[in-house]
Amino acid sequence: MIIGTVTETTVGEARVAMTPDSVKRLGRLGHICILQSGAGLLSGFADEAYMNAGAEIRHDAARVWTDADIIVKVREPNDEDVQSMRQGQTLISFFWPAQNQELLEKANATGATIMAMDMVPRISRAQKMDALSSMANIAGYRAVIEAGNDFGRFFTGQITAAGKVPPCKMLVIGAGVAGLSSIGTGVSLGAVVRAFDVRPEVAEQIQSMGAEFLFLEFAEDGGGSGGYAKPSSPEFREKQLALFREQAPEVDIVITTALIPGMDAPKLWLEDMVHSMKPGSVIIDLAAERGGNCDLTVADDKITTENGVTIIGYTDFPSRMAAQASMLYSTNIFHLIADLTPQKDGIVVHDMEDDVIRGVTVSHGGEITFPPPPPKTPAIAPPKRPQPKELTAEERRQEELALFRRSTRNQVFMLVGGAIITIALGFVAPPSFMQHFIVFVLSCFVGFQVIWNVNHALHTPLMSVTNAISGIIILGALLQIGSSGWIVLILAAISVLIASINIVGGFLVTRRMLAMFQRS
Ligand code: NAI
Repeated sequence: MIIGTVTETTVGEARVAMTPDSVKRLGRLGHICILQSGAGLLSGFADEAYMNAGAEIRHDAARVWTDADIIVKVREPNDEDVQSMRQGQTLISFFWPAQNQELLEKANATGATIMAMDMVPRISRAQKMDALSSMANIAGYRAVIEAGNDFGRFFTGQITAAGKVPPCKMLVIGAGVAGLSSIGTGVSLGAVVRAFDVRPEVAEQIQSMGAEFLFLEFAEDGGGSGGYAKPSSPEFREKQLALFREQAPEVDIVITTALIPGMDAPKLWLEDMVHSMKPGSVIIDLAAERGGNCDLTVADDKITTENGVTIIGYTDFPSRMAAQASMLYSTNIFHLIADLTPQKDGIVVHDMEDDVIRGVTVSHGGEITFPPPPPKTPAIAPPKRPQPKELTAEERRQEELALFRRSTRNQVFMLVGGAIITIALGFVAPPSFMQHFIVFVLSCFVGFQVIWNVNHALHTPLMSVTNAISGIIILGALLQIGSSGWIVLILAAISVLIASINIVGGFLVTRRMLAMFQRS
């Protein structure tokens, strides 16, 4: 098949749907790539780079539309693009079918197949094609960088000769893909990051990234299906606003990303909160395209309020990092085309039984196929943890007692068994052997009791102790290794070997664990 891409015509759009790297990879699937001259320039990819990767260049968009069997684009097609579409051709681009019903009908009338990149279902297998997540990841990162540009201070706290600089306090509202990316970026730059989301299951993720999750004392789980949220109750919203009102005078940067699919963005950062922020503070409203989470956001613009708070409502953050965004987007498209080319022979098989292909296809064979049925595979949503049963004090006491009895019984059995074996051995073994053997058995018992009860988190310090013990074993073994008895010699050699493995291994594991805490 011939896969073509054209220059994006939307003002300010710098991304491109094909990169030299994706051209090479599509070539390996048996496809031929063509593109309009200069299509990759704004993303930093020259025509020569595409030609070196094996693509052919066409001088205008019209030729690409005529020659290609599949057109890959970033933005949804405009009227002119729709006029260029033909039956049997496939268009792969963002389309937003729910918001663009009229466009969908027009495109469907051409008989072309439309595959909307914004419709990739959130199932594990489709993650590599999830263009919304790729773009949201970039938007979250760029939001922090953009905020830093307008924030007149360091992110990280510093103690300098000239005085102490407090760290920047950042609040992220909504911890989906974009929010988590902002949290990661903010933490790595040294800001003190707090985050809130209506889905309590993200708390652990937020905390593991080094940020603080703002808990709301309210018994409501805002989690909907497929890893998305559901609308909050008015009572919950009031509590949430009260929490934000408390935070507003304290935080320096607010990044809002709260969204429920198919709905306008909830208003969460109200005018009074903006007014109570410190001068120089920055708000980045990632939900600006859907009305914004902040009352004062102006979409596609940056404003400064009278009290000196900058509010940024840009809706083109991924395009502001066009090279990175094009790389990720073209990779998402490559994976979708790889799914469409199961034999890697350049022949497209449009399998409408495949969950991902079915979900993405919004028009096929002259029929509008949007909305798709729910995917057969369940969406990625963290499993809800079973709540542990609340025990009364008496039940807890009974349970602890039963546990204690069980472990005591086991230990008594082991001790009695050990004693019987030792006595039996005493009848046959020489006294010198028995003396060493009893010391050995007691050391095993004491060692086991000590190590068994050590918390896993303390195994590294424990390793140093075992290294010391291994050192003693090596010393003892070295003293014995010159012995004339061959059994003693072999045992001493084995002891040296095993103790050395323990010592070297201990050092290696400790080194690797320490490396995990070192920033590269
Ligand atoms: P997502 O659906 O993964 O995350 C949204 C998060 O908001 C979810 O975790 C949800 O639980 C949370 N949420 C919903 N209602 C909430 C509430 N009332 N309070 C607190 N949290 C709430 O979405 P994703 O992909 O992370 O995108 C986030 C936003 O960024 C969207 O508005 C999206 O349109 C926007 N976006 C903006 C771009 C730009 O250039 N401005 C580019 C890409 C995405």
